[in-house]
Amino acid sequence: MSQENILIIGAGGQIGVELTAALRKIYGDAHVVASDLKDEPHPLLKDKGPYEKIDAMKKRQIVEVIKKYGITQIYHLAAILSATGEMRPNWAWGINMNSVLLLLEIAREKKLKKIYWPSSIAVFGPTTPKQNTPQKTIIEPTTVYGISKYAGEQWCQYYFDKYKIDVRSIRYPGLISYKSHPGGGTTDYAVDIYYKALADKKYTCFLAEDTYLPMLYMPDAIRGTIELMEASADKLSTRMGYNLSGMSFSPKEITASIQKHIPDFTIDYAPDFRQAIANSWPQSIDDAVAQKDWNWKAAYDLDKMTDDMLKNLKK
Ligand code: NAD
Ligand code: SER
Repeated sequence: MSQENILIIGAGGQIGVELTAALRKIYGDAHVVASDLKDEPHPLLKDKGPYEKIDAMKKRQIVEVIKKYGITQIYHLAAILSATGEMRPNWAWGINMNSVLLLLEIAREKKLKKIYWPSSIAVFGPTTPKQNTPQKTIIEPTTVYGISKYAGEQWCQYYFDKYKIDVRSIRYPGLISYKSHPGGGTTDYAVDIYYKALADKKYTCFLAEDTYLPMLYMPDAIRGTIELMEASADKLSTRMGYNLSGMSFSPKEITASIQKHIPDFTIDYAPDFRQAIANSWPQSIDDAVAQKDWNWKAAYDLDKMTDDMLKNLKK
């Protein structure tokens, strides 16, 4: 098998830090180039492998790094997430849309072997069935983030159909992790709550207590991403985002899970503009197509994740 050289764009974010480390274990430190807008790598990536400052909107910067390292695959993680996107819609649209189009064009011009670009459950909207949302269903997103993710998915399918670009994508649910902070999403409460439970034993939640959303623990998300990227191309039935399910819970339920470890932890509720975003999304996801195409299965449920989050955050 020929050596792969991988570029990760947006490697300093919640997913990028962990995905970079996981890919370096597989391909070797020197063969996975982390990049982000920042001058310096995320502290967890410092002195662990190559780092380049790259703006996902700047073709010249990406092409120079492709040439310098002989890049064969790109994971493009840079994006403006749902809550930040609703505050600055035009700016978010520009970054989310133009950067994925640029990536697809670069993949075509430079004949990259494979590219990865994540989508989100935000593609779904209020008219989508809320429970066990299937892979193919009504898709009418109402956030700028969701619109950009759905348009991006369609561009991915287009570049596959027209130019045979081997692009792969997952509709991540809300991701929960302890290594790098989330970057402005509606599901961020489910990360913040663990930090506050340990630090203050109380938390004010920006979603109402009965708001169910689909969620996934980061180790499952990283494994799923790598499994999809390693799956044989002829097994993949879509080049749009695959539905991926892990768990579904409400703020009230995650509180109860934390209280099994910290009995005097309390929560109160002050829903803000993010409530409307959450209300527009599914409550649980059907991932039968990912199961069938590349044997996807999540390993963590809510209590198992809580055990692991609290154990690691205490360290
Ligand atoms: P994040 O906000 O934590 O990280 C994004 C990173 O991209 C940041 O380090 C930021 O500095 C960088 N970035 C922003 N603009 C850039 C630009 N122009 N050029 C280069 N880098 C830039 O996001 P994340 O949670 O790691 O998400 C990664 C991807 O996964 C995104 O596409 C996001 O939409 C998707 N996703 C995330 C979640 C989640 O819960 N975290 C859920 C669904 C989908
Ligand atoms: N976690 C993400 C968000 O809330 C979902 O894509 O924006």
